[in-house]
Amino acid sequence: MIPLRQALLAWYWAHRRDLPWRSTRDPYRILIAEVLLQQTRVDQALRHYARFLTAFPTLQALAQAPEEEVLQAWAGAGYYRRARNLRRLAQHVAETGLPPTYRGLLAFPGVGPYTAAAVASIAFGEAVAAVDGNVRRVLARLFSREKPTPRWLSETAEALLARDEPGTWNQALMDLGATACTPKAPQCPACPVNPFCAGKLAPERYPAPRARRQRAVEAAALVLKGQAGYVLERRDGQALGGLWGVPMAEGEDALPALLARYGLAEARLLGTVRHAFTHKRLTVHVHAAPWPGPGEDPERRPLSRLDQKILALAEDASRGT
Ligand code: ADE
Repeated sequence: MIPLRQALLAWYWAHRRDLPWRSTRDPYRILIAEVLLQQTRVDQALRHYARFLTAFPTLQALAQAPEEEVLQAWAGAGYYRRARNLRRLAQHVAETGLPPTYRGLLAFPGVGPYTAAAVASIAFGEAVAAVDGNVRRVLARLFSREKPTPRWLSETAEALLARDEPGTWNQALMDLGATACTPKAPQCPACPVNPFCAGKLAPERYPAPRARRQRAVEAAALVLKGQAGYVLERRDGQALGGLWGVPMAEGEDALPALLARYGLAEARLLGTVRHAFTHKRLTVHVHAAPWPGPGEDPERRPLSRLDQKILALAEDASRGT
């Protein structure tokens, strides 16, 4: 175990990625990074991290902001419930600061075992292992496990943890998973823990792919461009609740009811936009119709990535591209 730790830590200090949340000790900044990185790749997260922290540089600033401003600063990062939960968390701890322990952090909605462990170890030095998708893959390969159970993963991660530098160790495993021990075409010859790896002869076998739980859902969207901009509605629902977007409805035959809502008889099909959420893959048939009424500037509302894609399609269509 010890040589494996030494090999990975030495590699990390030589090759670690220079990321902005690694040059701060501010637990709030580390929390924002970890919540973003739950579902957003590092290259994308960098942009959102900078934008969000410019808008809300402290827990107190976040606690005092209206929800709509918080969603606006998160716009495009997806999974907006994360932003709503962060704001609520900030409101709870604005006076006291973030709780400095795994258990304390885990008590908040939106902070799961991974995020609590990442923040507790990186910001507060608590000896807890953080297991995300990358770490799961690294451990499954190291020990050639096709079906690592949550229990095995947490026991194995705890046993390997470098207890005197847990934040560094957790991030070293994450970096290994993101750079060398990648899902496809892993770079085994360049891997610092290659001598200790039981899965290196067939790394792509570990772990076995998980069954997909995503449903395929069809939807219709209606782009109405009026004076001064587009018709936008405030969305409800789990995924996009609180955000704004063009009129949209789910279902194979959703267009007639959507048209009726705006007193329209027909619309022109512009194209199709696909977007994946945690539990569904949405195929949106985007339509447009002439609209004599008012509209608004989409820049002034928090829009989801999905609506940004829909409006980009509409803009392209109106320019004839
Ligand atoms: N993914 C999740 N957390 C991370 C971190 N702290 N550094 C790099 N990648 C990550």
